[in-house]
Amino acid sequence: MPVPAPNLYPPFNIVRLSHVELAVTDLAWSRAFYVDTLGLQVTHEDEGAIYLRAMEERGHHCLILRAAAAPSVAVLGFKVWDEPDLDRAAAWFADKGLPVAWTERPFMGRVLRTRDPWGAPLEFYARMDRLPPIHQQYRLYPDLKPLRIDHFHLFSPNVDAAVAFYAEMGFRVTEYTEDAESGRLWAAWMHRKGGVHDIAFTNGTGPRLHHTAFWVPTPLNIIDLLDLMSTTGYLANIERGPGRHGISNAFFLYIRDKDGHRTEIYCSDYQTCDPDFEPIKWDLKDPQRQTLWGAPAPRSWFELGSGFEGASLQDSDLKAQPIIAP
Ligand SMILES: [Fe+2]
Repeated sequence: MPVPAPNLYPPFNIVRLSHVELAVTDLAWSRAFYVDTLGLQVTHEDEGAIYLRAMEERGHHCLILRAAAAPSVAVLGFKVWDEPDLDRAAAWFADKGLPVAWTERPFMGRVLRTRDPWGAPLEFYARMDRLPPIHQQYRLYPDLKPLRIDHFHLFSPNVDAAVAFYAEMGFRVTEYTEDAESGRLWAAWMHRKGGVHDIAFTNGTGPRLHHTAFWVPTPLNIIDLLDLMSTTGYLANIERGPGRHGISNAFFLYIRDKDGHRTEIYCSDYQTCDPDFEPIKWDLKDPQRQTLWGAPAPRSWFELGSGFEGASLQDSDLKAQPIIAP
């Protein structure tokens, strides 16, 4: 299917992705990983959960780690422009027969909970507690400088349908991968905030969260993190990279925590806010698609992901495969 035309007047106005809640089985291990190693800042913690923000963020949290018996992803969060957008979003999801509920969440105003048609749990809000800026408190920066949450990437059993659904909400395609044989979308990158993506979809059993990405200032911050991880007991948690993506032109590293939740450390993609921005098409078999320098991703990158709470998995009927490292 062709990439849908951008919906420049969506039914409600999403500003950007905002936060993710991960269920983790060892909160102390996760604190050491996300706080002491990646440098995210604790904004609240209690016996059962840790709330974190990145250095540039004024909102209370971009990541919630919640202790649980089994790992999963509880919700993906998005910020909308203003309160009436929440009511318009509720009406839009209800009209599609999708679940709609208003819920209480700490540190947030009204929160709309729903799911996309594949069961991925989503929440939308307009107001979150605001915190003082810390981006110039350089003593707080560890080896890595995680500035802000950048995007979610999901496995989708039907990328064409996912792109059509999220495009209706106003997400605009910046780059996409087509399977030349079937003409179907194999992957797509979609944005609201003017970067390459707030959310991306890759063909595969889903819905599952493939990764959450955090923006850092330079590739050197990624090298520093690799030096730190490889000498402090986290060697096995380094999965792929460092490298430069063909798609997005960003410098990247992929790491996985003890529960299998994957994080991408990401920097230097490009501006996409023009309403007449032309999406860039890639062929699934192009060796520079994944990594500009040609190195294919490992099999784990195409197969492993985190399940969403309350969502059943569907296999994709699109069996085309990219180039995978032996
Ligand atoms: Fe990514």
